[in-house]
Amino acid sequence: MLVSAKEMLTKAKAGKYAVGQFNINNLEWTKAILLTAQECNSPVILGVSEGAGKYMCGFKTVAAMVKAMIETLGITVPVALHLDHGSYQGAMDAMDAGFSSVMFDGSHYAIDENIEKTKEIIRLAGEKGISVEAEVGAIGGEEDGVVGGGEVADPNECKMIADLGVTMLAAGIGNIHGVYPENWTGLNFDVLAEIQEKTGVMPLVLHGGTGIPEEMVKKAISLGVSKVNVNTECQLSFAAATRKYIEEGKDKQGKGFDPRKLLAPGFEAIKATVKEKMELFGSVGKA
Ligand code: 13P
Repeated sequence: MLVSAKEMLTKAKAGKYAVGQFNINNLEWTKAILLTAQECNSPVILGVSEGAGKYMCGFKTVAAMVKAMIETLGITVPVALHLDHGSYQGAMDAMDAGFSSVMFDGSHYAIDENIEKTKEIIRLAGEKGISVEAEVGAIGGEEDGVVGGGEVADPNECKMIADLGVTMLAAGIGNIHGVYPENWTGLNFDVLAEIQEKTGVMPLVLHGGTGIPEEMVKKAISLGVSKVNVNTECQLSFAAATRKYIEEGKDKQGKGFDPRKLLAPGFEAIKATVKEKMELFGSVGKA
């Protein structure tokens, strides 16, 4: 059964660990993440960007696939199906389609408009028991055509958005999507500490989980981050394993071209990455 992200994140905040959000792209991705969560006895959040939603034939297809897979695979750990970086309309559509959690990314609006739109999403989500993530301070880098400038959030604005009743809050602290450039200066822990101090028990979300050094991730969790988003790292592991299979000529041996064989190394690679992250975030055994 799908659950909202509220309870798992409240527990994570209290227990000083984080729940991973892993973005999905297709059936193999979804199956790999769900099975790993079950094996690790860890709660998990499946992230779906609007682009990935379109790719998978719409939010309804995604919700139906995830629900059926949870049932068929006998997944008993808490699973939230979450819209990643949703537009206002996207958040409405995902809620209609059966998602249990949505992010409304109003970070590119002026703060007043971000507040108005976030309030409306919270009202509608509240009626359906759906959790809501809001964002202050655009996350840098490029994700599915959404380009953010890599801002550092204003802690007072974070407090204003947190007070609207969102479930979790993403705040830019120098993190960016994708691989970090050589000259990246790291996370801004002073701002994170200030945001945590102002927002209290609100679970904070760290986007751009790919490539942040382990010690920085741990420190961020100790300062109130309860959800870490990982996307690119699973894509890189999948691509590297698939490349190796083909470069070794395995697709040309016997029935090695069978998609169930061709995609198997990538599938296992996603599982290994997800397990590694769950161990780092401390969510293993916390289902
Ligand atoms: P990465 O692709 O850098 O892991 O970021 C994922 C993310 O933040 C999804 O919202």
